[in-house]
Amino acid sequence: MKTLLRIDSSIRLTDSFSREVGNHFVSRWQEKHPTGKIITRDLQVNPIPHLTQQTVQAFFGGQPTGDELELSDVLINEITVSDELLITCPMYNFQIPSTLKAYFDHVVRVNKTFQHKRGEYVGLLKNKKCSILATMGGKKEDINRETGFESYLRNILGFIGITDTEIYCIDGTANPEHATERMVEIKNKIINSI
Ligand SMILES: Cc1cc2nc3c(=O)[nH]c(=O)nc-3n(C[C@H](O)[C@H](O)[C@H](O)COP(=O)(O)O)c2cc1C
Repeated sequence: MKTLLRIDSSIRLTDSFSREVGNHFVSRWQEKHPTGKIITRDLQVNPIPHLTQQTVQAFFGGQPTGDELELSDVLINEITVSDELLITCPMYNFQIPSTLKAYFDHVVRVNKTFQHKRGEYVGLLKNKKCSILATMGGKKEDINRETGFESYLRNILGFIGITDTEIYCIDGTANPEHATERMVEIKNKIINSI
């Protein structure tokens, strides 16, 4: 039985292009994996708190004084038991949503998702495929090169061992007609990729 972890990060709970294409992805995925399990993590509905000094000290072997590791343990377990990831990710102020960054801060953890071995960093999550549905108001070619938006996503996932990552970009959403066309294109691409 396959498991899909779906992570949403748009602040919009309605009218969100990334969530709409995400729903389409999940429907297709369920058709292909009728007995599959889906874990959902909605970072807008249940935001992840910023890291604290105590949490990071506990990450690096310090004695926890309370439940500092609990949330990170839960999030890492969700990603570890999943075969596939779906991340829906708008661009906000040239970067990923801060809620998604806070999520990564809890998941990128020494000796759990990466190791430092003989001077090299090794990602510990293996054999996971990740699909990212990125949305942005502007045109991808005008924005992405300077911001490193896509390369950040590939780098952070690669750092923890997830290197099989496909990014689908629904750009130009500021123009509703263009957005509708892009969504149709991306929905068709997704059908072939799942
Ligand atoms: C706070 C905020 C910041 C944004 N910053 C950018 C940006 O830097 N570049 C861009 O192209 N679009 C930007 N946008 C537009 C969103 O990326 C666009 O509306 C996208 O469709 C949002 O995703 P959603 O439709 O899934 O909610 C921004 C939107 C908001 C609300």
